[in-house]
Amino acid sequence: MKKPVIAIDGYSSTGKSSISKVIAQKLGLIHLDTGALYRGVTWFALQNCLYEDGSINLGQLFSSFDQIELEFKNDNGELILFLNHIDISKAIRTNEVSDNVSFVAKQKEVRDFLLQSQRTLAQKGGIIMDGRDIGTVVLPNADFKFFLTASIDERTKRRYHELLSLGINTEEEQVKKNLLERDKIDSEREIAPLRQAEDATVIDNTNLTKDETINSILSHIQKI
Ligand code: DC
Repeated sequence: MKKPVIAIDGYSSTGKSSISKVIAQKLGLIHLDTGALYRGVTWFALQNCLYEDGSINLGQLFSSFDQIELEFKNDNGELILFLNHIDISKAIRTNEVSDNVSFVAKQKEVRDFLLQSQRTLAQKGGIIMDGRDIGTVVLPNADFKFFLTASIDERTKRRYHELLSLGINTEEEQVKKNLLERDKIDSEREIAPLRQAEDATVIDNTNLTKDETINSILSHIQKI
């Protein structure tokens, strides 16, 4: 039997990636965190494509796509992102990347650049992909679609603790500001905005634990 393709979309820090990772382990699927791809391109831009005032030079970024080799290495079902053979999995979590990623991700050129590789990875099935436009644009024919949401205060708390656990020191207020800014840019952009697919199951996990959210998703999958 062909393994399923599962799309998990939703707001930042609703636990999409960590939840998808566990579901992947339980169902024997590959897990792809597509936000990492946008973060990888942003990290590259911050290293290589800046104006003197420190802002991102989009023209230079677009003409540098042929110098960006994003590659995932499979570590027990988890895909770890390498950019030009460097493990950037930690570097892409910094505030500097978080502060710039939505601006980079709203560019059509960037989305086009990343679209095909996401689809190719899903072709064989057996994958759970999390992001913002997986159920709507990247994999509209996914076997299962979920849309995760939670209150801004709960999401702030989660992101803050995630950053601390990565050894990244920050202020809760700054984390909240960044989440709100990204919600706005991600939802209002012209190309592939963050929105729920009509056929997605919505899960508000403000008052759910990670395990409860996982069980809710699994019960939907196993019901069918
Ligand atoms: O999931 P994340 O916070 O790591 O995502 C980082 C950014 O990437 C997010 O602000 C929006 C963008 N993104 C996107 O536009 N489309 C996706 N499929 C995944 C992420």
